[in-house]
Amino acid sequence: MSLLFTHIKELLQTRPKSEVKVMGDAMKVLPHIKNAFLRVQGDTILDFGPMADLVIQETDEVIDVTGRIILPTWCDSHSHTVYAGDRSQEFVDRLNGLSYEDIAAKGGGILNSAQTLQNTTEDALFEQSMERVNALVQLGTGALEIKSGYGLNSEAELKMLRVIKTIKKNAPLKIKATFLGAHAVPKLFKSDKQAYIDLIINTMLPEIARQKLADFVDVFCEKGYFSVDDTEQILKAAAQYGLVPKIHVNQFNAFGGVKLGVQYKALSVDHLEILDQEDIEVLKHSDTIPVALPGCSFFLGIPYTPARKLIDAGMAVAIASDYNPGSAPSGNMNFIVSLACIKMNMTPEEAINAATLNGAYAMDISEQYGSIATAKKANLIITKKMTSYRQIPYHFGNNPIHQVMINGAFVK
Ligand code: NIG
Ligand code: FE
Repeated sequence: MSLLFTHIKELLQTRPKSEVKVMGDAMKVLPHIKNAFLRVQGDTILDFGPMADLVIQETDEVIDVTGRIILPTWCDSHSHTVYAGDRSQEFVDRLNGLSYEDIAAKGGGILNSAQTLQNTTEDALFEQSMERVNALVQLGTGALEIKSGYGLNSEAELKMLRVIKTIKKNAPLKIKATFLGAHAVPKLFKSDKQAYIDLIINTMLPEIARQKLADFVDVFCEKGYFSVDDTEQILKAAAQYGLVPKIHVNQFNAFGGVKLGVQYKALSVDHLEILDQEDIEVLKHSDTIPVALPGCSFFLGIPYTPARKLIDAGMAVAIASDYNPGSAPSGNMNFIVSLACIKMNMTPEEAINAATLNGAYAMDISEQYGSIATAKKANLIITKKMTSYRQIPYHFGNNPIHQVMINGAFVK
């Protein structure tokens, strides 16, 4: 099947396939072609360019998209989209004055979600989660990382990872799976955290590796959760199975998690609401990409990741949704792009780079996703009619999307 888009108002994020991330000042540039064409063959981008260069060839379908912008689909590199039930009661508790930490200390938070998930069947968990994933695709997400971490015992962690695998089979978009057994210390191990870490290392990791259920490993490295030492034990064990780290660090406190992540060659370090100068120095000299999660800052009312500082120091930054029932109950990447501009002072060009190519880099898929390049996957957002791509972040909360194409097929 071949398809030709003509008269594209702006074709965004056109880069050579060899460009796998965008760093520092280069993030201010969003390469694009005005009045463009784009040819898709099967699931792949065949070629593109200015309308003036279009050579007539036989094509199964021609679509005139006058007035519309085309860009690569969002690459959301950090989510907890597989979860059971919701935590709207805790949301109301927070509105009434409790903090996220207060709620967790009372046994709510992640432990609350874990209890619900343990009592939910695999089929029901799949159904709830798949519905969310389908909604995300409609909102323009074409690649999504999903974490475990609401199981907190071997059986339920494996159940979550199997659900992610089933989503991978059934959903059109690209999925990457991350094992986050160390998301919180379960109630049963409250007085013996090391025993839970041992369970992760000696039971969960080997089984997950044997069944090839995860691409990455994650740890919530935070006060009251897992220390730098705890995190190191898990990263060291995971390395034996070839699981690359993508870790939760510096959400509330900076105490060396970033440095540890870089030391263990983490693909990404995520959150970073609290960053010190040493973290910035360490990151600057590494291939680890910082990932900001502005939806979490927005929802919890905590500081935003100082993305400006990171970009101005020459680094690549990615943005992701963190979609989860506790700290970010929305996976709408269009809104995340808006928040990145409005709350982190990123320009529209920087935010779109951060949510496409750099997001793909943070999932290790940027050779196939995240930009418009010949031989990359035809994962495209076709926008409503608009005057410029700046309108995507500008009209916060609006849906800019007319149609989504994944692997060369329109999403129904
Ligand atoms: O990324 N911080 C740790 N994990 C999630 C929140 C999990 C939850 O509250 O359920 C996050 O914000
Ligand atoms: Fe998270």
